[in-house]
Amino acid sequence: MRETGCFALKGNIIYPDSIDQIRYVPKGYLICENGKVMGVYNNLPEGYLNIRVTDYGDRLIIPGLTDLHIHGPQYAFRGLSMDLELIDWLNENTFPEEARYSDLEYAKKAYTIFVNDLKNSATTRACIFGTIHEEATVLLMELLEATGLKCLVGKVNMDRNSPDYLCESSAWSAKSTRRWLKDALKKYKNVAPIITPRFLPTCSEALLKELAALSEEYMCPVQSHLSENIAEVKWVRELCKEAKSYSDAYDRFGLFGGKVPTVMAHCVYITEEEIELMKKNQVFVAHCPESNTNLSSGIAPVRKFLEEKVPVGLGSDVAAGSSNSIFKAMAAAIQVSKLRWRLVDSDLKPLTIEEAFYMGTKGGGAFFGKVGSFLEGYEFDAVIIDDSSLAHPQPLNLKQRLERVIYLSDDRHICDKYVSGSRIEIRDTVKDLRQLM
Ligand code: GUN
Ligand code: FE
Repeated sequence: MRETGCFALKGNIIYPDSIDQIRYVPKGYLICENGKVMGVYNNLPEGYLNIRVTDYGDRLIIPGLTDLHIHGPQYAFRGLSMDLELIDWLNENTFPEEARYSDLEYAKKAYTIFVNDLKNSATTRACIFGTIHEEATVLLMELLEATGLKCLVGKVNMDRNSPDYLCESSAWSAKSTRRWLKDALKKYKNVAPIITPRFLPTCSEALLKELAALSEEYMCPVQSHLSENIAEVKWVRELCKEAKSYSDAYDRFGLFGGKVPTVMAHCVYITEEEIELMKKNQVFVAHCPESNTNLSSGIAPVRKFLEEKVPVGLGSDVAAGSSNSIFKAMAAAIQVSKLRWRLVDSDLKPLTIEEAFYMGTKGGGAFFGKVGSFLEGYEFDAVIIDDSSLAHPQPLNLKQRLERVIYLSDDRHICDKYVSGSRIEIRDTVKDLRQLM
């Protein structure tokens, strides 16, 4: 008889094996042992016959999704004000909204909504930008910690080319980041800090060097933005004349992977040389197709990243992306890849469902370790989906049902969620939200 750390979920189990192969196990058993996947079976194996089994009937069981790039403070203005390109969008919409997070009362209201919706989504792991404000970022981490989701959260750094109301002095930025980081490293079970220079234009060279030193001292991962928009790339060329490329500029300051896990959002305008560097340093791409469409940024060459074995996952990039759904990001990734193939480069074939599913699960999950699959030894992150309300007259197999979930489902179809073997309480805070307003 095995103890409580061991249990099984029964249902239609679907998970990525490799980039181009999804495994479908109808009416299978997914076994969890001490927070990790022990295996997927058609029948309970010998030695496991007495474990607790939760039977999800005809529902789908898939790995939790990873959002490699989302801005917590921008969730408040999702679905608004997207008729601008990046730099104007930042100055007119984003910076004024982020400035509000110096007010902890506002931050509590806004972050409670953000965290609650993230908890109720199919996402189990996320890389999250906060703002420059230390207290509000700590509050965001506390709210996330209580959900059980596993998140990397960054206090944003900005000490130049930013409006006075959202700009730190270089010395303060480094000092408060160090204090926040040291404190955050020992405080939480589920959340951890990630070094977060907003992007090269808003961080001085001295600050970038300080952040690189900090990341190395504490072996802390790094997240930022890279080559999202044509005017931005040109600006970086002017700001950092000695660098061969935008990637090289980060690399010169020690913020481009190699030593610590590093994820860069967008990577739309990337040269062959930069791809080589990303591959060498194992820098992750957070592909954010909805954001790149909304801000007219462009279409990232994702097929190329996959061919060159640059690690790629998906990001919602709220609020440049309107939705926090990584299912929607999968569909958008396929859609924009078709436009790129048709209109820009017929050598880069469109992405498939298998590839999009991989990027939203195992691809992005790799940033967190063995995450995003049900192969043995992976973290037991699982989402149970009830697609019975997506009515259809014809019989559908599991591959077709997964495809429809990617294109058609929303959070109401999610009926249960587990992270590292622990069940997450979803949809239990509507009352708290009402009290807050
Ligand atoms: N580049 C620098 N900051 C941001 C941001 O908040 N959103 C996006 N999409 N790109 C950025
Ligand atoms: Fe972003």
